[in-house]
Amino acid sequence: MSASLLEVSNLRVDFQQDGLLVRAVDGLTYSVDRGQTVAVIGESGSGKTVSSRAIMGLLPPTASVTGSIRFDDVEMVGLSEDAMREHRGRGVAMVFQDPTRSLNPTMRIGAQIREAIQTHEKVARAAAQDRAIELLELVRLPAARERLEQYPHQLSGGMRQRVMIAIALAAEPKLLIADEATTALDVTTQAQIMELLRDLQQRLGMALIMISHDLGLAASFADEVVVMYAGRAVERAPTRKLFAHVRMPYTRALLDAIPRLENPSHSRLAAVPGQPPNLALRELGCPFTPRCPNATDHCRDHEPAFEEHEPDHLWACWHPCADEARL
Ligand SMILES: Nc1ncnc2c1ncn2[C@@H]1O[C@H](COP(=O)(O)OP(=O)(O)O)[C@@H](O)[C@H]1O
Ligand code: SF4
Ligand SMILES: [Mg+2]
Repeated sequence: MSASLLEVSNLRVDFQQDGLLVRAVDGLTYSVDRGQTVAVIGESGSGKTVSSRAIMGLLPPTASVTGSIRFDDVEMVGLSEDAMREHRGRGVAMVFQDPTRSLNPTMRIGAQIREAIQTHEKVARAAAQDRAIELLELVRLPAARERLEQYPHQLSGGMRQRVMIAIALAAEPKLLIADEATTALDVTTQAQIMELLRDLQQRLGMALIMISHDLGLAASFADEVVVMYAGRAVERAPTRKLFAHVRMPYTRALLDAIPRLENPSHSRLAAVPGQPPNLALRELGCPFTPRCPNATDHCRDHEPAFEEHEPDHLWACWHPCADEARL
């Protein structure tokens, strides 16, 4: 048995769109240990959701998936729909960005949670009801018993996300994937949900993949950070090491885009200048070249490999950043 709960190797996901091949995930490799929290960070369109949906077996049939996804020592790529469903029930659950779209607006909260419980486990309605209350208490939704009778629109955004987390936990997952789970929420609620996820991860001993476009968010929560760009991993390291020794110019740019208390003029809208590449037009070289301050002609024609250059620290770059002088 391997040490890791999840091992993604050379994962590639292609879509056909208007006669063009869109390579949404391009050779992604990373792993998650049991009980570990890994942040997957990157701008919009970098392949975070598509790669997570591949892990869940939730991609549309138009997607072509190659490479390997081993979960709990079972290969997921190429599994039948039935086997995939069992896999999802057996150990991995996902929470999405927008709880209003994931919850059924015409069904009471209680019925939706009971349904998730009974999909996972054959139990009678009364037992499912008790378990639903337990789950709502676990996600710290106040007045759990009364909530069961309510409809999604009667709950705030934060409460709906707690319900979604409760539904995800119904399957007692070994791995929970939170895909921008707090992005649609206001800052205070965002912090509360992050705190809840961390607390659940520790109490239940689950592994957690925290997907976000916000590198700052990862800093306080993740054991390890994987930075994605144009469908691939471009830098990966334990969180502390990454922040102390950023190597990829792209990661550096993401860090510079984080608003800081001492620099209030830096708004939350600060972003990395320029645009990510069009994934349908595959070009030679490093995909970050047009936006990179360190780029040379060599970068334009040669794609750097994603390799371990320092212990536990992988990156894909010909001209990595040096450590910054500290004041
Ligand atoms: N069903 C689909 N058909 C075609 N292209 C898709 C499909 N789903 C996602 N993509 C493309 O895959 C790329 C990565 O998307 P996604 O994983 O959602 O990015 P992220 O979650 O990092 O914002 C995008 O360019 C997107 O347009
Ligand atoms: S390989 Fe070149 S273009 Fe790509 S990130 Fe490194 S320096 Fe920049
Ligand atoms: Mg996404």
